[in-house]
Amino acid sequence: MHNMPEWLNDAIFYQIYPQSFYDGNGDGIGDLNGIISKLDYIRQTGFNALWINPCFDSPFKDAGYDVRDYFKVAPRYGTNDDLARLFREAHKRGIRVLLDLVPGHTSDKCRWFKKSALPVRNRYSDRYIWSDNGWSRPDGYNWVTGNADRNGAYMLNFFLGQPALNYGFYNVTQPDWQISYRDKRVKPTFDAMLKVMRFWLDKGADGFRVDMADSLVKNDPDKTGTSYLWRKARKMLNEHYPEAVLVSEWCNAPVAINKAGFHCDFLLNHGNKLTDHAFYRRNQEGASAAYFCKTAHISATAMLSTYLRELEQTRDNGYISVVSGNHDVERLSYFLDESERRLAFVFLLTLPGVPFVYYGDEIGMRYIPQQSKEGGFHRTGSRTPMQWDADRVNLGFSTAPADKLYLDVDRRQDAPCVAQQTASEDTLWSHIRALNQLRHSCPDLQAGSPLRIEECDDGGVLCYRRGEHTYVAINPADKAQTLNRAVTNVLYISGKATARGNVTELAPQTAVIFQN
Ligand code: NOJ
Ligand code: CA
Repeated sequence: MHNMPEWLNDAIFYQIYPQSFYDGNGDGIGDLNGIISKLDYIRQTGFNALWINPCFDSPFKDAGYDVRDYFKVAPRYGTNDDLARLFREAHKRGIRVLLDLVPGHTSDKCRWFKKSALPVRNRYSDRYIWSDNGWSRPDGYNWVTGNADRNGAYMLNFFLGQPALNYGFYNVTQPDWQISYRDKRVKPTFDAMLKVMRFWLDKGADGFRVDMADSLVKNDPDKTGTSYLWRKARKMLNEHYPEAVLVSEWCNAPVAINKAGFHCDFLLNHGNKLTDHAFYRRNQEGASAAYFCKTAHISATAMLSTYLRELEQTRDNGYISVVSGNHDVERLSYFLDESERRLAFVFLLTLPGVPFVYYGDEIGMRYIPQQSKEGGFHRTGSRTPMQWDADRVNLGFSTAPADKLYLDVDRRQDAPCVAQQTASEDTLWSHIRALNQLRHSCPDLQAGSPLRIEECDDGGVLCYRRGEHTYVAINPADKAQTLNRAVTNVLYISGKATARGNVTELAPQTAVIFQN
């Protein structure tokens, strides 16, 4: 692949929600120094790259996705120097760090927005999207009016506090207030984002996960305008930061990778996509219809069809990133029990592309429905503090009194914790660590090595080959099933595989990685 940083081929990402990872100073909320003190754990588990959710100055109406100052770390997490130190400490351990770039909107408390809202024209007047008078809220978009002296309504990109930055329109249908994406009046908006990127790359960041990457240019049905902008960012990286990467929150790999130039695109839980079929899907009665649910007996063919097509389409240009979950969805443990998740992780960690594991999924943290915090709503239950040690106060997350915690820890007796899982054999954690280590030591299993389906049947048995010699066979069901080939040179097995001549019987819920 052209201009693709080599390190990405062997990257296994760990997503950190900074509020909830580790509280280094005992004030009840996670922070950057806390992350630094856990880098050895991250490395020990086999992760060599991080994505950290937004850690910038913000009023936190959307947990930091409402940025007030792109150039300043939020005081609750530390300082810019702490972040630079995190980059250095991570790099010392061979860990890359992606920040979260939020280009589609800012907080309404951002200085740019305050200037844009002034009635007198100034250099920020076109930085956001305004209608041509305070009574006009054109159809098809979300607007706020009556909140500023400027004679116009402003467009939102997400929540109330998140006005849309103005990258112009691809199809201009109402010229009295819409500006073309090619107009020089909107050029400063993307230039400002490029400046934000350079600022953090110069301090040591290894790239960005890009929030709502497809949302920039409005009325852009084929994403030609939005892609034109991202190509500029990719060009800047290729020329000046060839080791840096951009991962898009887009969930349309052919467009995000081939057209917009992202190195990787997230495969999220959207309908008909791989992760929906594999982990989340339910039938009309509400029962799981996910491939990895042992009683669902879902065909492997149906699960893979869209994915295989998109993989083929993007093969020469970038990587698809399958995720175990993230801060926007219920945790994997809400959908699959541990025996099912073990197989799901074999799958996730042996697919091509660049995998992402959400913090806590490696020990099986649960989803805890609760009252919303900072715009989390149903997502809040996936954002609870990391569980470090069952024998310590607040499970080792923080020394603060329980009522001062950002969110409470899982108070169940059997809440899974790092200290206990790393000290025992055959835990979910040890399983994931072994898979991570296997991937690092086996080039066939890494991002760019090709995938070929060998067996894919309606009973659910799946066998694929990675590279020339490495095979993965899965029987997700609660019944034994036959694999139509011999299993030789086993590198890893969860479950049991028994040779029967030229075929192999896979015991219920078995996954095996082998070579021949
Ligand atoms: C996607 C982020 O992952 C989510 O947490 C956020 O609320 C929205 N984008 C808006 O920025
Ligand atoms: Ca703290």
